[in-house]
Amino acid sequence: MTNGQWTPTSWRAFPAVQQPQWPDQAALETASATLATYPPLVFAGEARNLTRALGDVAAGKAFLLQAGDCAESFHDFHADSIRDKLKVILQMAVALTYASGVPVVKVGRIAGQFAKPRSADNEIREGVTLPAFRGHLVNSEAFEAAARTPDPQRLITAYHQSVATLNLLRAFTKGGFAALGQVHAWNMTFVKDSPQGARYEQVAGEIERALRFMTACGIDLATEGNLDEVDFYTSHEALILPYEEALTRQDSLTGDFVDTSAHHLWIGDRTRQLDGAHVEFLRGVLNPIGMKVGPSIAPDELVALCERLNPDHIPGRLTLITRFGANLIGEKLPPLLDAVTAAEHPVVWASDPMHGNTFTAAGVKTRRFEDIVAELSSFFAICRDRGVWPGGVHLELTGENVTECLGGGDTVSEDDLSNRYRSICDPRLNASQAIDLSFSIAELLRG
Ligand code: PEP
Ligand code: CO
Repeated sequence: MTNGQWTPTSWRAFPAVQQPQWPDQAALETASATLATYPPLVFAGEARNLTRALGDVAAGKAFLLQAGDCAESFHDFHADSIRDKLKVILQMAVALTYASGVPVVKVGRIAGQFAKPRSADNEIREGVTLPAFRGHLVNSEAFEAAARTPDPQRLITAYHQSVATLNLLRAFTKGGFAALGQVHAWNMTFVKDSPQGARYEQVAGEIERALRFMTACGIDLATEGNLDEVDFYTSHEALILPYEEALTRQDSLTGDFVDTSAHHLWIGDRTRQLDGAHVEFLRGVLNPIGMKVGPSIAPDELVALCERLNPDHIPGRLTLITRFGANLIGEKLPPLLDAVTAAEHPVVWASDPMHGNTFTAAGVKTRRFEDIVAELSSFFAICRDRGVWPGGVHLELTGENVTECLGGGDTVSEDDLSNRYRSICDPRLNASQAIDLSFSIAELLRG
């Protein structure tokens, strides 16, 4: 049972929902065995550092910004799109820190975010039934039998794409590109002329002036401030368990197990069953973990999950990512905050204002910027009312100039949606909308 001995394979004795029907089990085992011989993407020490940083968030001393694609794509794999996603997240973090004075912990939905839970196993179009698209870790989105057939070779491709993505992110964040002196360079040309871009330019100008002032005072920022480097962490939904198991390694120093596929892993709203395989797997790895919390959870169920996932009450080990929708958060969040507080669980409370506010317009999935802001405003207000630190946000965004979400500073309308709708899954904020939102969040943070 769940409270028994944990091993990287113990999840196999529990029901695992949202797993594809792999047509060739032997091929899956071969791919998993190959992955098990590959080098780790991240190290135990990095995961521990992130737990510590999130411990500061749990204690009300920092803020979590977790953001990136709904689903990364094997087709859209370029240095430019990785760089632009990083730029937007850095810009948002700067706007947040500058306005609020609170340090921001930066975590991307990137370098491994390839698997999607789906509401139905199959998709039917004009009388043809095919397996649902589950992300490029599993199959491809084209509505054709071959594309939709789960292919274990994709586990290997996903690993290599994650490695290359992480390598570039490490170069950007440790090699000078993310240095605070570069704040102006992160503003993208298509954003620069918009009101959000101009507002950002103003903040960037003030930061540059402050840096020049400190240098003039004789402070060597390169050595004293550590301003040339940024800690940027990776995360994804730990959905396809053979992949996560194959990348799990034992830390030789402590004997602890770490899932080396990313720094931070989360459990989705559809896979958080107390006695399910996903909870069993993630309870045993040392990484900081997240769990999505949607409208169907009960307060005692949430407390039981906190106990199972973080029995030692380690601050920062568990992030609860709430996603109710602007219309339900007022009813659903307060009893959950109260129950977890009463059970003395030092969690990070973060708001995902995207997944509860999705609807269909002009034939595609979309979200309204104003609903996203409304859910976030309620989140901050309710947390403050309950004496809980509103610890962070969890967003779907891209650095590209897409038209997938409605509204925002650039005012994408329903007629615009078809112009540049490029997501292979859920609608993302574009760079202008993301920067616009970060100023709103900064105002909420200032309180
Ligand atoms: C997601 O984060 O893309 C997702 C599927 O979220 P949830 O599990 O909250 O529905
Ligand atoms: Co999504």
